[in-house]
Amino acid sequence: MKIFMDTANVAEIAEMAALGVVYGVTTNPSLIAKTGRTQAEVIPEICALVEGPVSAEVISTDCEGMVAEARKLVKISDKVVVKIPCIAEGLKAVKILAAEGIKTNVTLVFSLGQALLAARAGATYVSPFIGRLDDIGENGVALVENMVKVFRQYNLSTQIIAASIRNMEHVDKVMLAGADIATIPTKVLKEMLLHPLTDKGLAQFLEDYKNSLK
Ligand code: E4P
Repeated sequence: MKIFMDTANVAEIAEMAALGVVYGVTTNPSLIAKTGRTQAEVIPEICALVEGPVSAEVISTDCEGMVAEARKLVKISDKVVVKIPCIAEGLKAVKILAAEGIKTNVTLVFSLGQALLAARAGATYVSPFIGRLDDIGENGVALVENMVKVFRQYNLSTQIIAASIRNMEHVDKVMLAGADIATIPTKVLKEMLLHPLTDKGLAQFLEDYKNSLK
């Protein structure tokens, strides 16, 4: 499973990319708004920090507008993947963009049916939102598990980005389910590195080393 960061915060991406673990990044209009900067400012900076895909979302809700935005966004960098909402106009846009060789990430996916439609329309990536399903009492991880099963069963090449991840348990479970990618918020990514026994063990090693010099 590849690791993407789910943030538009350039400093956070730079910090974690230095660890060599972050392959790509996903953003959305809410994440961009949190930075107090514009999409046009942050996307090129993010593209300079990571090796892999950087999702930038359209704000149009009609096919023509989405396609026009997408064509403009991909001019920023060949790393840009255009994030398109899972609505009828969005799928029409995905079909057109796929024919032009423009990569898409169909976002706001909450059901197996939506996932299949996005894949059949030609999406490069599809993003099931786990946390938001959990929020309404459904099982977000189960959607990812079912998507992995169905995509394998029908040999669909669309990659699954487990999104709306809220905790380490989500990460562990989508990893076990076989998601191609997890897009992870900075806080959760930092937590993944930590274990009290690592700190305890390191302290003991250093203490023993110091004592061995006496
Ligand atoms: C996906 O690409 C979205 O940016 C993101 O995962 C949404 O997560 P949220 O439900 O925590 O806002």
